[in-house]
Amino acid sequence: MPRHVAVIMDGNGRWAGARGLSRLQGHRKGKDSVREVVETAREIGVEVLTLFAFSTENWSRPPSEVKALMKLLRRYCRTELSRMMRYGIRLKVVGNLRRLPPEVLSDLRSVEAETRDNDRMTVVLAVSYGGRQDIVGAARQLARQVRDGELKPEQINESRLAGSLMTAGLPDPDLLIRTSGELRISNFLLWQCAYSELYFTDVAWPDFRRDQFLEAINWYAQRDRRFGRATGELAVEA
Ligand code: IPE
Ligand code: IPE
Ligand code: MG
Repeated sequence: MPRHVAVIMDGNGRWAGARGLSRLQGHRKGKDSVREVVETAREIGVEVLTLFAFSTENWSRPPSEVKALMKLLRRYCRTELSRMMRYGIRLKVVGNLRRLPPEVLSDLRSVEAETRDNDRMTVVLAVSYGGRQDIVGAARQLARQVRDGELKPEQINESRLAGSLMTAGLPDPDLLIRTSGELRISNFLLWQCAYSELYFTDVAWPDFRRDQFLEAINWYAQRDRRFGRATGELAVEA
C-alpha cells in the first residue's frame, strides 16, 4: 500500500469536448472524481493524497477559464468541508498562493485551519504549484540562512533541501498517477517524485473513479521497488 499517492488530474477539457460540453462542465464533473478518489484513498488507508489542481503554467489559460477554476475551488471549499470533518481528513495547500485571488486564498486557509487536527488522511491540494518554483523557493530559503550565518553551505544536504520545499514533513509520493493519456510530469513534484512509481492511464479525470483508482493501487502493489539496488537484494536482506 502506498503511503503517499500524487495525482495529475488531467483531461477535463478533452472529456467535455468529446461530449459537446464546455471545458467548465468538464472541470465540474472532475470535482466528483476528486470526492470519490479522496474517499477511496482514505478508506484503504493511504496517508497522503496530493492532487494537482492548478499549475503555475495554468495561469496562462484564457482568463475566463482561470476565473471559472478559481470559482470551482471556492465551491470545493464550501461543499467538502463537512465531509472532511466527517472523514477525519486534513487539508493542506501548496503552491505560490500569493497569486491567488484573496477570497480564494482565504477560503482555502479557513478549510486548512478547520481541518488541522484531523488525522485519518492528509489531502494536499497543489494550487498555483510548480515543481521548479518549489525548488527555487527552497534554494532561496537556504541561501538566506547561509547569509544570516545560521547554516554553512556544507550543511546543505538532501534532507535540508527537502525540508525547505513546500511539502516539508510529508513522505515522498510512492505512486504518481496521471490521467488522460499524456506521458509527462508537467512541472509537478519534481524533487519529490525522484523514486515514485509512475502510472499513466488513458482514462480522463472525470471518468477516473473508485475502480480506476483501485486498479492503479493494484498495479503499484506489483512493482518491485529497487531504489537502485540489484534485483533480489532486498529479499536477501529481509
Ligand atoms: C485538467 O484538465 C484540469 C486542469 C489543468 C486545471 P485540463 O483542463 O488540462 O483538460 P485537458 O487536458 O485540456 O483535456
Ligand atoms: C497539468 O495538466 C496540471 C494539472 C492537472 C493541474 P496540464 O493540462 O496543465 O498539463 P499540460 O499542459 O498538458 O502539460
Ligand atoms: Mg490538460
